[in-house]
Amino acid sequence: MIIGTGEYVSGIVLGSSSGSDKKLGVVALVLFDLRRRGFIDKILLAGTQGNKFPTIREHFRKNITGVYKDMDTTFESFPEDNVEREPNAYKRALDKLKKGDLVFIFTPDNVHFEMAKEAISRGLHVMVTKPIVQKLEDHLTLLNLAKQNDSLVAIEVHKRFDPIYSDCCQRIKSCGNFSYFSSYMSQPKFQLHTFKAWASFSDISYYLNSHHVDFHCWAMEDIARPESVYATASSGIANRAPYELNTEDTITLLVRWRNIKDPSATGTAVYTASWVAPKADVHSQQYFHYMGSSAEFRIDQAHRGYLMNSDDSAPLSLNPLYMKYTPDNDGYFSGQNGYGYKSIEEFVKCASKLRTAEVKSPNSFDHLLATVHKTAISTAILHAGRMSLDCGKPITIQYQEDGIPTQLSPQ
Ligand SMILES: NC(=O)c1ccc[n+]([C@@H]2O[C@H](COP(=O)([O-])OP(=O)(O)OC[C@H]3O[C@@H](n4cnc5c(N)ncnc54)[C@H](O)[C@@H]3O)[C@@H](O)[C@H]2O)c1
Repeated sequence: MIIGTGEYVSGIVLGSSSGSDKKLGVVALVLFDLRRRGFIDKILLAGTQGNKFPTIREHFRKNITGVYKDMDTTFESFPEDNVEREPNAYKRALDKLKKGDLVFIFTPDNVHFEMAKEAISRGLHVMVTKPIVQKLEDHLTLLNLAKQNDSLVAIEVHKRFDPIYSDCCQRIKSCGNFSYFSSYMSQPKFQLHTFKAWASFSDISYYLNSHHVDFHCWAMEDIARPESVYATASSGIANRAPYELNTEDTITLLVRWRNIKDPSATGTAVYTASWVAPKADVHSQQYFHYMGSSAEFRIDQAHRGYLMNSDDSAPLSLNPLYMKYTPDNDGYFSGQNGYGYKSIEEFVKCASKLRTAEVKSPNSFDHLLATVHKTAISTAILHAGRMSLDCGKPITIQYQEDGIPTQLSPQ
């Protein structure tokens, strides 16, 4: 079951196809293809407005069934088509599921926690988009609930499945101490219209820094851990006409890290995210620089050496390594190798192994997925960033003995 019917799920924004690079969305398309390939069966879709479903069905019929061979796009929807608004319809939909069924939460950042709590308490396996939650204490609550209910709970952070990012993560492991990391990720400011319903209840650091913070924390497992976060922000665009949102434009987190095996060695990370970028050759700029004591890496994830010029649009840098929408020569969807696809497929395969009891413990997948057990540090950084913006001070991250962060305190 999918909760959320917005851009990432369906490609529909404000009643029509998105102006971003995700005109067909990602989640529903991938699940339709996984159903075609026999990995899943029935699909349920829960949103808030039932009267949006006829548009979504027509969009899928025209752009998915009409484009790819053998692609069934049927789904059961909640609330019913004649319902104008029912924010709790997803709970009625969850009641239809059985323990061990799969739930995908792709809704605004500020409602992930309540929805994940509901789903995990029912013994379901849950994939939540990034950021899984906005507060460290909520992350720890989900972690404990997952343990109690034997639920597989993972964050959908697809950069982990990019062959170049994942190769780099492995190489970083043998480059000595952590010294420096800097990342940048942006979206064009027209996305502020797309996200106007919820942008004031989240921030661009939760929304986009969450990607590179996750990547860096993943690479730093057993190497280093963060100990303090100071955040600063720019404003003056998102909070003015025509957007009028109560949110920052660009947020930078400055994080001090300490190496675990060599504690006198420290590292610095700078994560910047913006949602006021101008239109460009790519929807999202995204790149990082990592420096360890014996090597450094630079990756530009947006530019893969693939440029398209056409009479219909400005020049575009394409990245089919993420989502490949072009069908194969026989007319079938052929994006199974994209990292946007693999991230969801891997979760489905892991959850299936738990369903058939081939694997007993959800913890067995800690090395394959961004499970709730292994990701509390990235939530701690994002939450500390928000706290620092609100109080203007650096925030210290405190840990319990097993390395789980438990407390954030202003200095
Ligand atoms: N758009 C992207 O490129 C992208 C990429 C990766 C992850 N995400 C993540 O996906 C999430 C949603 O983003 P989006 O771009 O699809 O946003 P969106 O604003 O287009 O869609 C949000 C959807 O959530 C639904 N929703 C809100 N409250 C709900 C409720 N109570 N019950 C059921 N549905 C509810 C809304 O109806 C809407 O359909 C965010 O957390 C974001 O971080 C988005």
